[in-house]
Parts: sequence; C-alpha cells; structure tokens
Amino acid sequence: MTDHPAAAAPRAVASVDDAMAHAVELATRGPSWGPNPRVGCVLLAPSAAGAPERTVLAEGWHRGAGTPHAEAAALAAAREAGVDVRGATAVVTLEPCNHTGRTGPCAVALEQAGVAEVVYAVADPNPVAAGGAEHLASRGVRTELRPTSAATELTHAWATAAAAGRPYVILKTATTLDGRVAAADGSSRWITGPEARTHAHEVRATVDAIAVGTGTVAADDPALTARRPGGGLAAHQPLRVVVGRRDVPPAARLRTEEGGALVHLATHDVTEVLAALAAREVRTLLVEGGPRLATAFLDAGVVDELHAYVAPVLLGAGRGAVGDLGVTTLADAPRWRTHDVRRLGDDVLLTARTHPSPSRPTAQEA
Ligand SMILES: NC(=O)c1ccc[n+]([C@@H]2O[C@H](COP(=O)([O-])OP(=O)(O)OC[C@H]3O[C@@H](n4cnc5c(N)ncnc54)[C@H](OP(=O)(O)O)[C@@H]3O)[C@@H](O)[C@H]2O)c1
Repeated sequence: MTDHPAAAAPRAVASVDDAMAHAVELATRGPSWGPNPRVGCVLLAPSAAGAPERTVLAEGWHRGAGTPHAEAAALAAAREAGVDVRGATAVVTLEPCNHTGRTGPCAVALEQAGVAEVVYAVADPNPVAAGGAEHLASRGVRTELRPTSAATELTHAWATAAAAGRPYVILKTATTLDGRVAAADGSSRWITGPEARTHAHEVRATVDAIAVGTGTVAADDPALTARRPGGGLAAHQPLRVVVGRRDVPPAARLRTEEGGALVHLATHDVTEVLAALAAREVRTLLVEGGPRLATAFLDAGVVDELHAYVAPVLLGAGRGAVGDLGVTTLADAPRWRTHDVRRLGDDVLLTARTHPSPSRPTAQEA
C-alpha cells in the first residue's frame, strides 16, 4: 500500500454536494480513534462554462495521526497522476487546518497548489488549528462553509472534544427494563444478549479508551478488550483505564490478557481523570461503569452520549445503573436527546446525546 490513495480515474460528478457526500465516505475509511478527526477531500476540476457537472481530479483521506491530512493526500495523489489542480475546487469535510503539527498547514498547501476554491462542511473548532478558511480568503481563494449532517456527524465526537478541551465521554449501561445492572446476589452476567454484547465490542474498537471503576474490576474481572464476533482481538485495542484507589490485582485479566495498555488512575476526581486522558491524546472515552463511576461522571456533568442497552428483563431488586444524583424533583433531572434507537436481538440500544446532533437534514439536504 502506498502512503497516498491513488488519484481517482477522471469521472463526472453531478455537483459539489455529491463530491461532499463522497468526501464523507472517503473520510470513514480513516480510523475513528486517535487524536485527529476523520477527513475526506475531493478535488474537482474548474466548472466548464457554469456546467453543474465537474470532473474529479483526485481524492484523499486522512489515515491517522502522523500521516498526511486529507487535502495533502489528495494533492499528492494528483501530483503522482500528473493532474493539474490549478483553478480546482477542493471539497473537504472539515475546514483545512492552519497550523504545523505533525504535518504542514493544509490551507497553505491548497493555496500554493493553485486551488481556486475551497468548500468545507465543518468549521474547525480546534483553537490551535482553526483559521484555515481565513488564511485562504486572505490569499484570494474563494471559501464556502456548506454544512451537511453527514459531515457534522462524522466529526461530532472529535469536534465536541476539541471544543471542550477534554475527551468526549460516552457512558454505557446494560440494564434491565427497571434500570438494574445486577441482581440482589450481585450476578450481572448476562443481562443483555449476544447481539448487544457484540455491538458493545464493536463500539470498543472505535474509541480511544475504556474506563471502569475498581468495584467492577473486583466484581467482574473484565478484560476490557475489543473482540470480533469470533472471539479474536479487533485490530484496534483501546486504552484500558481503571479509576479508584484500590489496586488492580496481579492476577486480574486486565493485567494478564493481551489488549490495550492499562492505565490505573488512583483518584475519585473525574476532572483529574479527563485531564490525564486528554494528556494521552484520548479524544473519545467509553465509561462502562459500574454504578459508582457512572454516577461520578454524571455528577460532573461530562457525559456527552449515553449508550443504554436495555433488555426485556425485570429484576425488581438489585443495583441500579446509577446512584443518587441529588435530583429530588423531575424538573431537575438531566435529560438527553434521543439520537438513535436500534434493536439488537431481544434488546434495544438507545443512543442519546446532550449536545445538538445533526439528526435533521440541513437546508441544502432537505
Ligand atoms: N450492567 C452493567 O452495565 C455493569 C457495568 C459495570 C459494572 N456492573 C456491576 O456493577 C457492580 C459494581 O458496582 P460499583 O459501583 O462498585 O463499581 P464501580 O463504579 O466500577 O467501582 C466503584 C469504585 O470505584 C472507585 N471510584 C472511582 N471514582 C469514584 C468516584 N468518583 N466516586 C466513588 N467511587 C469511585 C471506588 O473505589 P476505591 O475504593 O478503589 O477508590 C468505588 O468503590 C458489579 O456488580 C458489576 O457487575 C454492571
């Protein structure tokens, strides 16, 4: 495999909007974990006498930290194919960056390549990298912010984390219909069925880190690995984080089984946990419980997304998914917005978010 995707064979696309949809598809080929967002870029030939159809000159996507950004990958693909990009339109899912990090600024690369116009779907919320559109405009490159719900969704967790300066937090619970995570005798395996558990493993394989409290380590001895349906390890293993003052026993599966690196944070301070993980470039954190750790994250008001796996099971007694949140009247209860509902075998997964999510089409897409 080369460092850069090959240039696309010249083909007509119907519109800039189609190119943006394709750029989103390209972006999804990159990893959802790691410090950088997934970004796709399509370079379109100048419009011939105002015709809506434009030819794709080249395309690229970001393959993860340390590799070329999507714009640089597309420009490199064009160079390799000997394609002239002067006067082209770059259609990018995220505003081109304006800073030198592990790679050079994309805004400068586009301008120096002679690109005449840049259409991007999401403004860069990262204070360090923002300003690419401004730079381009100052150099006479036309810029247009053209939001799409697909591009916004693609960068939702990363953009929320960048804006908040801490990891995006997903709280996962697997409960009975009456919100319990364990029976009176402490048994909790398994409340949900195999489809839900497979899905939970798929989610683990998309995040940077998974956290549990020391109580869950003591009760369940989890391995916190991301596994494929056949049982083998997924290609990406998130960091395994244990929060709490008790030690992780030497024989714990977290220590003996292969998986992501183990990080033990001997604290009860959620802000400290998030700062320590942000320093390790964690952008998305999956909190898997138990109830005390879940309650601490909810109390701190840092849960951005809920993954509530609900099984059609009733216990009537046993531990609830969360402890006392200090809510005494309904009006004070934290409330999320349903983002998605999905059936998994006999169970249901409710995904809900605090931040506005792009579930409705934008004006352009309506
Ligand atoms: N169905 C599910 O979704 C699910 C998921 C996970 C667990 N569970 C079940 O939950 C039960 C364990 O519950 P748990 O509440 O004991 O587990 P937990 O939340 O994993 O662990 C609680 C421990 O975490 C530490 N801790 C870290 N930060 C804290 C904070 N801010 N506030 C308070 N404590 C903090 C404390 O231990 P230190 O003394 O070490 O500091 C505390 O005793 C088990 O029965 C397990 O099977 C169910």
